[in-house]
Amino acid sequence: MAVYIVGGKSRIGGSVRIHGAKNAALPILAAAVICGDCVIENCPDLTDVAVALDILQHLGCRVVREGGTVYTHRLEGGDHCIPDALMSAMRSSIVFLGGIIARHGKAEVTLPGGCELGKRPIDIHLAALRRMGVRIREKGSGTLVCSAPRGLQGTELALPFPSVGATENIIIAAVTARGTTRITGAAREPEIRDLIAFLNGCGAQITCGVDGTITIQGVEKLHGVTHRVIPDRIAAGTFLCAAAITGGSVEVQDVNPGHLLSTLAYLNNAGCSVTTRIDSVLLRGPERLNELGIVKTLPYPGFPTDMQAVLMAAAAGAKGTSVFVENIFDGRYRHVSELLKLGADIRVLDRVAVVTGVPELHGGQLRCTDLRGGAAVVLAALSAQGPSVIREIRHIDRGYEDFSGSLRALGADIRREEAEWNGNTDQSAASGDEKKL
Ligand code: EPU
Repeated sequence: MAVYIVGGKSRIGGSVRIHGAKNAALPILAAAVICGDCVIENCPDLTDVAVALDILQHLGCRVVREGGTVYTHRLEGGDHCIPDALMSAMRSSIVFLGGIIARHGKAEVTLPGGCELGKRPIDIHLAALRRMGVRIREKGSGTLVCSAPRGLQGTELALPFPSVGATENIIIAAVTARGTTRITGAAREPEIRDLIAFLNGCGAQITCGVDGTITIQGVEKLHGVTHRVIPDRIAAGTFLCAAAITGGSVEVQDVNPGHLLSTLAYLNNAGCSVTTRIDSVLLRGPERLNELGIVKTLPYPGFPTDMQAVLMAAAAGAKGTSVFVENIFDGRYRHVSELLKLGADIRVLDRVAVVTGVPELHGGQLRCTDLRGGAAVVLAALSAQGPSVIREIRHIDRGYEDFSGSLRALGADIRREEAEWNGNTDQSAASGDEKKL
C-alpha cells in the first residue's frame, strides 16, 4: 500500500499542465460501446479510466492506449454483462448501462461502487430507462437484469434532480432509440456538453436549449470520431488551491477558465490575485487567506461538490470563519476527521460545516477518505508545520495523474513510497529520517 510522505510548509510555485477530465472521459468511453472506431485524445491516465477501458474490452471493444490517446474499435458480438469486480470498482460503471441496452437490447449488471459519499442511489437512471421501454428486475441481491424487447423508445423525461450520471445514461441510451427524447431538469456540467460533442461528432442529433432542455433525435447508427477530452476543471481547481493555501503561485495550463468561475470567485474573495488567459489561469496566494464566506455546493454552474473538500482545506488555515453547505451529497464530510487531526477547527452539523481558521496546522498521520477528500488532506499537510504521512492514496490515483510528482515539480515537499507503511506514528518516521517502510 503506497503512502505519501509530506514535509510540510511547502510553497507552491511554477506551472502545471492539466490533464483531461476524468468525469468527461468516463461517459465518453461508455458511449464508445455504440460508436464506430474512435480516437479519444487527452484521455487521462487514471485508475478509474483503466477500469472503464477494462469494461469496454469486456463488452467486446478492442482498446489500445498510446500515451494520452485511446483508440476504440467495436468488434462484432460482445457481452451484455459487466462482472461485479468491474462494476464495484467505480460509480461510473453504471453509465455503461444505457449503451449496453442500446447495443444488445438487454444488459445484466450489479450495483456500482465508487467513493463513499453517503447514499448514492440510481433510481433516476432506472426510472428513465423504464420510461424508454426497458424492463428491469433485480435478481438475487443487487444484480439488475434489463431487457428492451421492443428496443429503446424516445420519450419526455423530467428529472427530479439534475443527476450527472443519469443525464449521461439517458443521452447514450437515446441516441439510437426510436423517436425523440427530451430531457428537462438535466445536468448542465461541462462534462455533459463534452459527451454531447463527442456523440454529435459520431453522427448523433443532440441539441441543448437555452433553458437547459436536451433534445435527442434518435439516429439509425453512429460512426466514429476523433475527439479531444476537455481539461479537468477539478484537477485545475485543486492546483489553484494548492497555491492559495501555501501562499505560493501557480499557472494552470491547458484549462478552460470559463469552467472554473465559481472556484475562482471564492479564491479571489479570499485574497488571491487571479489572472485568466484563453487557456490558462495564474493565481498568486496571499501570506494568509481571508475567510471564504458561505460556500454552497450546487449543480453547475454553481460551486462544484468535487471542490468542497479542497476549498475546506484552504478555509482551515484562513483568517476568520467560513461556512460550507453540501447540497449534492449527504455524506461528503469524511475528510473533516483528517483535517481535525492536523489541528483544524471544524464543526459539522448535518449538511453544514463551520470552519474557524487556525493560524497554523501541524503535521499528522492521515488517510485519504475518498478521492477529493484525499486531495484536500494532502494540501492541508503541505501547508502545515511539520511532517505528515498519508495512507490510502489509491483514492487519489482515481482522479489525479501522478499527483505527488506534479506537486513536487511545483516545489512541494512530497514523495510517494510504494512500500507498505508499518504504522509507526513517530514524527521522525514521517520526516523520512528513520522511517520503516
Ligand atoms: N442521485 C439520486 N438518484 C440517482 C442519481 C443520483 O438520488 O439516480 C443523487 C445522488 O445520490 C447524489 C446526487 O443525486 O446525492 C448527485 O449525483 P449525480 O448522479 O449527479 O452524481 P454522479 O453522476 O454519481 C458525478 C461525478 C462526481 C460528482 C457528481 C456531482 C462522475 C464520474 N462522477 O457523479 O464526481 O461529484 O457527478 O457533480 O462524473 C469525483 O470526481 O470525485 C466525483 C465524485
